[in-house]
Amino acid sequence: MSEPLLVRAARGESVERLPVWFMRQAGRFLPEYREVRSKHSFLEMCATPELALEVSLQPLRRFELDGSIIFSDIMTPLLACGVEMDFAPGPVIAKPIRTMADVQALEIPDEGHIGVPTVQAIRMLRQAVDPKVAVIGFAGAPLTLAAYLVEGRGGKDFSALRAFLYAEPEAAHLLFNKLAVLTGRYLRAQVAAGAQMVQLFDSWAGILSADTYRTFALPAVKKVWSMLESTHVSKVFFAQASAHLLPLVTSTEACVFGFDWRLSIDEVRAQVGPNMVLQGNLDPAMLRAPEPVLRAATRAMLKQTRGGPHIVNVGHGLQPETPIDSLHVVIDEVRSHVFF
Ligand code: CP3
Repeated sequence: MSEPLLVRAARGESVERLPVWFMRQAGRFLPEYREVRSKHSFLEMCATPELALEVSLQPLRRFELDGSIIFSDIMTPLLACGVEMDFAPGPVIAKPIRTMADVQALEIPDEGHIGVPTVQAIRMLRQAVDPKVAVIGFAGAPLTLAAYLVEGRGGKDFSALRAFLYAEPEAAHLLFNKLAVLTGRYLRAQVAAGAQMVQLFDSWAGILSADTYRTFALPAVKKVWSMLESTHVSKVFFAQASAHLLPLVTSTEACVFGFDWRLSIDEVRAQVGPNMVLQGNLDPAMLRAPEPVLRAATRAMLKQTRGGPHIVNVGHGLQPETPIDSLHVVIDEVRSHVFF
């Protein structure tokens, strides 16, 4: 049995067509998700492997997708470190991290004790989905985790995090290092459970200058990847709003670089050369446009990929307002597109 198309494409092999999956494909745009969610809290869903499995499978019942991302959240592995949190709807941290003592108190458990329900759900997902569909694991990049941990909740520019980096550089380095170890261990457990591709979400990469990103965030990403070296899993690095960071975010040793709609595929390809696998980059808001507009935008994106190496995706997570038929339109275009 050959490996899933998505895994082969992520490795840069030449493939029969471009693979397609959607960030946040398991989520609120689906009525069947909202149905499950009406009976359980978000954290309860993440903590119950059967529920996480069900919600991960929901998009696969409707759409011909090449990947199945496990349902969880970037913040859940931190529960194993004793971090108290809630979702309203984004993460809210009970006691934000602000000092060296706070960082020192953060305990990083062993590989077998991080995100246990999610790891179990991955094991069940690999059993449940067609072998042609890749199981995708994920984690938050250390910077994006730190953004919520220090700020205490989502924000526009995470100025409490930035102030922490400048005021407490030693504590910040220790925090990034601990988060890298946590994430490396968590992803190793996901791979052992059956994840064939793993994505690190650096959703808030864009809040830092290149110098600050290079000093704090990049070494931690590289550390995560180095902890996965022996697994040979396909590694995707997604960095949002990272135009000013391109040389840095494309040098993390991931085999795939994911980016949003702010950059064009042509622009990124010109910078990274012909071999790096790219992932993206339809604006998720484009999926709320009328069908002819969405079709034209999908075709324009496909034309820019020139047949790859590329994985079709949105440039950020699907929005709750996304019409279900829009995914059919994108998938239909990807599956029928002929490259000349
Ligand atoms: O992609 C998938 O389908 C898998 C599930 C997934 C969730 N969160 C489920 C979720 C993934 C991959 C994530 C990652 C995540 N979580 C990121 C990185 C990607 C990104 O969007 O930038 C970030 C920054 C978070 C933090 C987070 N969790 C936010 C900001 C929110 C609230 C707003 C929102 O975008 O949904 C959450 C809650 C959350 N995570 C929900 C879901 C389905 C909504 C919870 C609910 O049903 O109330």
